Amino acid sequence: MMQIPVVKKQLNGYVGFSNLPNQVHRKSIKKGFFFNLMVVGESGLGKSTLVNTLFNTSIYPAKVEVEPTVDTPKTVDIQAISADIEESGVKLKLTVIDTPGFGDFVNNEDSWRPILAAIESRFDSYLEQENRVNRKRIVDNRVHACLYFIAPTGHSLKPLDIEFMRRLHQRVNLIPVIAKSDTLTDEEIKLFKQRILDDIAANKIEIYKPQIYEGDDAETIDETKKILERIPFAIVGSTQEYEVNGKKVRGRKYPWGVIEVDNEDHCDFVKLRQMLIRTHMEELKEHTNQVLYEQYRTQKILSGGGPVIDGNPDPFAKLDEEKRAHEAKMAKMEQEMKLVFQQKVAEKEAKLKQSEEELYAKHREMKEQLERQRVELEARRKAIAEGRPTSPEQKKKKSGLFK
Ligand code: GTP
Repeated sequence: MMQIPVVKKQLNGYVGFSNLPNQVHRKSIKKGFFFNLMVVGESGLGKSTLVNTLFNTSIYPAKVEVEPTVDTPKTVDIQAISADIEESGVKLKLTVIDTPGFGDFVNNEDSWRPILAAIESRFDSYLEQENRVNRKRIVDNRVHACLYFIAPTGHSLKPLDIEFMRRLHQRVNLIPVIAKSDTLTDEEIKLFKQRILDDIAANKIEIYKPQIYEGDDAETIDETKKILERIPFAIVGSTQEYEVNGKKVRGRKYPWGVIEVDNEDHCDFVKLRQMLIRTHMEELKEHTNQVLYEQYRTQKILSGGGPVIDGNPDPFAKLDEEKRAHEAKMAKMEQEMKLVFQQKVAEKEAKLKQSEEELYAKHREMKEQLERQRVELEARRKAIAEGRPTSPEQKKKKSGLFK
């Protein structure tokens, strides 16, 4: 293909396209932002506490202790909670996708399966919307990041952790975190982090790492390096406030003092929040769209729309694998049905909002019309009371033109 030469030109005066970033900024502010965050980890590792701590609000409602019954689910469930939050006029629709039951059964061998099915069905739903004739209102339910909670054992990763990450790393931005790190000493955390990183490398697992780009300024490079150094993040979650040296801090109280959530010397919470919310939220979404989703889409097309097994279309998969694929397909179908329902609700809501706005405009128009009529009538009433003519005909009559 012929290359078109690009020539650098100097402008003779102000044109105005330097305002482009502001246009994007204004449009984004108006539209609002959205982010879909998945949390995975054994029960009681502090998932809901961390989400509430990250967004400094109770996204998760207070828990009601339920007695275990015979109806306790036997598989991993997928539940989504959405919240509209706002900070300095910027709106964020946050959806947290929880996976209760993960790692809680006697046999957890297949715990990753329903979670992978849920992630892929969200990709499928996006793909299906992209293929529609009308692509105006695409609802993006794709999972943009997955916080994976590692139990603070201080040893190394469990087989369940490795299996989960190995199966999921090509489908979602994996962010491993060491849960409840206040239960480990600094030395234990250091060793534990190294073992986790070794296990991740040995199993060829790709976790999400912020990129350093050519052209990044020195400050950005420094910030990114500081985030990278802390991976996997050793976190402490708490929304409880205590007073330390006359200042209110969020933390966990021990007989010897308070472990502060927002203190970088105490844990990696601040760096995790910085990456997830303050500096890399858009990059996580972009990576989901341009790399993970694109990869899935290509594999899906190559497999002729059939199931994608371990990242490869495998027409000669063993019967056992077929059975599993069938089960995964059923789980995915169930997820898809849930998603279609969610989408329909979202579309309906958008339509209702539109008709509400139209009704409001009509109402305003009618009100203005009535007001005009009222003013007119009032003027006529006054004219009659004062014996003045109220119409052009009467005026003419009065002036003697009509006899
Ligand atoms: P499930 O809903 O059962 O999956 O639990 P979860 O993972 O959402 O855990 P949750 O946030 O409910 O926390 C469980 C318990 O751990 C609560 O008593 C929390 O107060 C406590 N907890 C949460 N985060 C931390 C932490 O960072 N350190 C310590 N020591 N305890 C924590």
